[in-house]
Amino acid sequence: MKTNEVLENIKARRSVRAYTEQQVPEEDLRTILEAATYAPSGMHLETWHFTAIQNVSKLAELNERIKGAFAKSDDVRLQERARNKAYCCYYHAPTLVIVSNEPTQWWAGMDCACAIENMFLAAQSLGIGSCWINQLGTTCDDPGVREFITALGVPVSHKVYGCVALGYGDPKIPMKEKKVKADTVTIVK
Ligand SMILES: Cc1cc2nc3c(=O)[nH]c(=O)nc-3n(C[C@H](O)[C@H](O)[C@H](O)COP(=O)(O)O)c2cc1C
Repeated sequence: MKTNEVLENIKARRSVRAYTEQQVPEEDLRTILEAATYAPSGMHLETWHFTAIQNVSKLAELNERIKGAFAKSDDVRLQERARNKAYCCYYHAPTLVIVSNEPTQWWAGMDCACAIENMFLAAQSLGIGSCWINQLGTTCDDPGVREFITALGVPVSHKVYGCVALGYGDPKIPMKEKKVKADTVTIVK
């Protein structure tokens, strides 16, 4: 198998779920956000928006609003999360990027996924850990959540397709070795 810096970076990336308090420097955050904007998008529409939050109390408030939406759910597991004081959907990462898009095109979520992977890989190349955070996808239209994310800068017509937690992985938590599933590839010649 061939290898190079890009391929090694792809293989080294892991989801990080425990972070130190150290903030991501602004230049690094801007570099990661720029990588997002270079992702492919259907018909090159680029209707996406990236709302980056680096404010600890605003992130905590967002988590509370998401828990408020979970409390209204019929799903017992989500109700439990709403009651759990320790639950933090973004794992206390110091930075969270909300990735949103106009829901008018059926591929809007795919555009966002391409941008999110670009951010993961750019972060990895800068020594910054990341994780996909999905909880705003199902709660962004809850009135309490919507009011808050609108104030943060998420366009009102947008749906949230994912969020990216960014920060430095807690060195006390060892990174799990990644095993990839066999037999998921077919080559036809
Ligand atoms: C669409 C999508 C949604 C995900 N949502 C979450 C999430 O809400 N919280 C979380 O901790 N990880 C989430 N993940 C991360 C996956 O659990 C993770 O990528 C998978 O376990 C493989 O591990 P790796 O990223 O370390 O290779 C999500 C990943 C994808 C692609």
